[in-house]
Amino acid sequence: LRKIGVMTSGGDSPGMNAAIRAVVRACAYYHIDCVGYYRGFQGMINGESVELNARSVRNIINLGGTILQSARSKEFMTEEGRSRAAENLKKDEVDAMILIGGDGTFRGGLALSEEHGIQVMGVPGTIDNDIYGTNYTIGYDTALNTVVEAIDKIRDTASSHNRLFFVEVMGRDAGFIALTSGIGAGAEEILIPEENLGLERLLNSLEHSRRAGKTSSIVVVSEGDKIGKNVFELADYVRENLPYYDARVTVLGHIQRGGRPSCFDRVLASRLSVKAVELLLDGQKNLMVGLINNDIESCSLEKALKGKHTINKDLLRISEILST
Ligand code: F6P
Repeated sequence: LRKIGVMTSGGDSPGMNAAIRAVVRACAYYHIDCVGYYRGFQGMINGESVELNARSVRNIINLGGTILQSARSKEFMTEEGRSRAAENLKKDEVDAMILIGGDGTFRGGLALSEEHGIQVMGVPGTIDNDIYGTNYTIGYDTALNTVVEAIDKIRDTASSHNRLFFVEVMGRDAGFIALTSGIGAGAEEILIPEENLGLERLLNSLEHSRRAGKTSSIVVVSEGDKIGKNVFELADYVRENLPYYDARVTVLGHIQRGGRPSCFDRVLASRLSVKAVELLLDGQKNLMVGLINNDIESCSLEKALKGKHTINKDLLRISEILST
């Protein structure tokens, strides 16, 4: 193995730079060349690459976003796009690719491997935490801290005005961000796609809170929840049915994807990425590295894509107890 390529793809997440840095530095440590591709698969298709050495990644461990930028490439979904990407990798004499991203990234990597024999190694990076084969993905912890900080601020104004706030958080089809940040921020109710508690139950719970003497409340709503109303409709519905509630909506949106990575995410990114390089050096391919019970493990990319990372339902029970 003489040269490894690295790229970040899909939605960016805080800690991706720490991951790039660790790949590049591990390559330097083991005397392998390293090349970065810009904007994920799209940069591979366009041949936008940059040679990276240990000094190219100085002063980035603390930065959010990704210095290699990211994209969701439509062109790569086509066979022709993938062929062009593979040709460029061959031209650049890249022996293996480290792909930092989520499930879309890994699906693309597997296609590249199956159709063109490129060796790939996945490093899970997404704020959603929705990847099987790892307890945590890079960026999730930072996103949680961003959400909790935002909700703490919302709580100040909610309690000053005796208001009910619906706070929508990201997570695509998974409720990890909502569930964990909801507990961390002391939310009244948490709505996640994995558990549809229903509108009736929400109304009952809010009514009960009112009777129990609560004057303000926060409901965390995962963007993918299955209650059948978007967060604005939900607020309208509660206003109509429980008119004493002065309800407001805050959609946190993309601020959840930015910011300085937490120490946890930097260390996670560093450990996973060094391991990714070492596994390639060891002749392994088409794996994803992950953190399982604080050890760095690996599983096949197929398994990572087929498996489902499930939420810890006990957290729902805890949340219910604590919002009494
Ligand atoms: O996967 C990360 C994520 O931020 C999801 O939580 C969200 O649903 C999606 O990406 C948003 O994507 P985009 O930035 O393309 O709007």
